[in-house]
Amino acid sequence: MSRKPIIAGNWKMNLLRADATALYEGIKSFVKDYTAVQLPTVVIAPTFTSLSAVGSVPCDCGCGGNKINVAAQNCHWESSGAYTGEISVEMAKDAGCSYIIIGHSERRQYFSESDEMINKKAKAIIAGGLIPIICCGETLEQREAGITDEHIASQIRAALKDISSEDVANSVIAYEPIWAIGTGKTCDSVEANRVIKMIRNVVSEVAGSQAADAIRILYGGSVKPSTIEEQMSQSDIDGALIGGASLTAESFNEIIANTMKVAV
Ligand code: PGA
Repeated sequence: MSRKPIIAGNWKMNLLRADATALYEGIKSFVKDYTAVQLPTVVIAPTFTSLSAVGSVPCDCGCGGNKINVAAQNCHWESSGAYTGEISVEMAKDAGCSYIIIGHSERRQYFSESDEMINKKAKAIIAGGLIPIICCGETLEQREAGITDEHIASQIRAALKDISSEDVANSVIAYEPIWAIGTGKTCDSVEANRVIKMIRNVVSEVAGSQAADAIRILYGGSVKPSTIEEQMSQSDIDGALIGGASLTAESFNEIIANTMKVAV
């Protein structure tokens, strides 16, 4: 089964609207020379305040694809109501999003998001017709204690609970070892591929082998233009979720270009 790679930029809490627009324009001017078929699925996740300043760029070849897809970095599972500071799936969709990142380790760590909340968000996103990018990953302590696989398997089982096989197949998972995020310490590609294969086995257990073959599983954690080719050459790594290196058009575009060398 060939899975279309995803290159997703997580801008986190960075860039004012003018900077976000300039970055978006820089990516747009790179992707204009390619069709959506040639490109990986390109996703950018600006802050909520910049969502309206950037937009999805439709492909011009008539394939119905988008050259740039927009993601929110979080959402609430309820559709509206007294949830100060939150946004709903419909609001993200209204602002042009087709993907929503959920369960990022920074949200789990700093905002106490639980597996149960992440499952509720995943279900709300799917019900709203958007695609969840579900993050998982272990701490350095968990890795050193030898419980990486069991921790990640339990995060994935919880996140996918009561979601149909078809919807699981269309979802995206990002494996992001916490010790590799923003540290410059990329996880060895062979090891990242091993964990991602293990995640695929868990998906197969909970949603069947077709969903496991179809679901796109990304690696995240200090991905750079110089690391992406080796990462994309692995059997089970279907793309990357990129923080720091997605904040300039130069490095993000180079990651897209290097991905196209090996994997689209
Ligand atoms: P990083 O962040 O690329 O800066 O390590 C990745 C992420 O947190 O998604």
